[in-house]
Amino acid sequence: MIALNKPLRPNITKLTTYLESVNESGWYTNFGPLHEQLTKRLEAYLGVKHLLLVANGTLAIQVACKTLNINSAITTPFSFVATTSALLWQGVNTAYSDINPQTYNLCPTALSNALAQDNSYDAVVATHICGNPCDVHEIQSVAEQYNKKIIYDAAHTFGVKLNGESILNFGDASTLSFHATKVFHTVEGGAVVFKNKADYEKAKQLINFGIKDGDELGEPGINAKLNEYQCAVGLTLLDDIEQVIKHRTALFNLYCSELKGVVKLQQWHSEASLNGIYVLIYIADEYLQHSIITALATENIQSRRYFTPSLDIAYSEQKNFGCNVSHTLTKGVICLPLHAYMTTEDVFQVTNLIKKTIQLTAVSS
Ligand SMILES: Cc1ncc(COP(=O)(O)O)c(C=O)c1O
Repeated sequence: MIALNKPLRPNITKLTTYLESVNESGWYTNFGPLHEQLTKRLEAYLGVKHLLLVANGTLAIQVACKTLNINSAITTPFSFVATTSALLWQGVNTAYSDINPQTYNLCPTALSNALAQDNSYDAVVATHICGNPCDVHEIQSVAEQYNKKIIYDAAHTFGVKLNGESILNFGDASTLSFHATKVFHTVEGGAVVFKNKADYEKAKQLINFGIKDGDELGEPGINAKLNEYQCAVGLTLLDDIEQVIKHRTALFNLYCSELKGVVKLQQWHSEASLNGIYVLIYIADEYLQHSIITALATENIQSRRYFTPSLDIAYSEQKNFGCNVSHTLTKGVICLPLHAYMTTEDVFQVTNLIKKTIQLTAVSS
């Protein structure tokens, strides 16, 4: 069986040492010593400042919106549901603008056209989909022209750099998910990286019920803190993350070289590094798509349609500036297995089966 995804398993001996330290100190949550260590190590590893750990990537988006006073936003229709559901749960008036057909990221031209029609939104919320950075410079120039804040949902973009600079340093805030299925995880967890220190300070208070130093209460907050046990998992996994990303990237590159010219692949940002989080193929023909998924399943290889439905269709009561590209893609994108425990032989097994199915389908039609 080749699983679609396999969570990283922390080294039990190292993890136990951290957990024993928690038991000894009796400090289980509320910004404890492991929380401090993980924050510092992540800031150093990722090349960022003002990183605030939170309980998950969904809350990270909500906390970013609350901190930056975002009440309305234009977002992408092609993402995991949480990019939108977090906004809606937060009461953010949400509208959709289309994606680029090659990169699958929010299209700056479509965004600019949308804002030219209706400039009433506070922010742009864009996902770096499947680890592929958005056109951050173009989005920045549109946002500046229309005076919008930018939040990047960077849940898939752990460790990715643009020309050597962390992708998390673009926009007013970037949100991360440390869910077990991600490249790096804390079982459940996440973070917000703020551009400004003042926003970081405000958010730190907001995720602790809005309590200021001492007993004084500030703006009403929520409990979105990450506890010490989960930080222990993060600290343990961080030791090996460089190797994990290297391996996943090699597998991703192998997929691309084997499938180039065979199926449509996501066009990667030319200045970006990779983290090998997901590999997507696009198959327009429904019969062939079904044949590939069935052939993989018959060989015990998991695959999944990502990301469907298009979020503007799922939440059709929200405003939509036209999302035809997303509608087309969501009908044909398949996510293939990719995780740290896969081998190059596994990749060849998947890609050879896809090639064989395409040949057989062509012969029989
Ligand atoms: C793009 C995207 N945004 C947000 C989330 C939500 O993160 P979490 O599961 O940590 O709440 C996820 C994933 O799970 C995601 O893939």
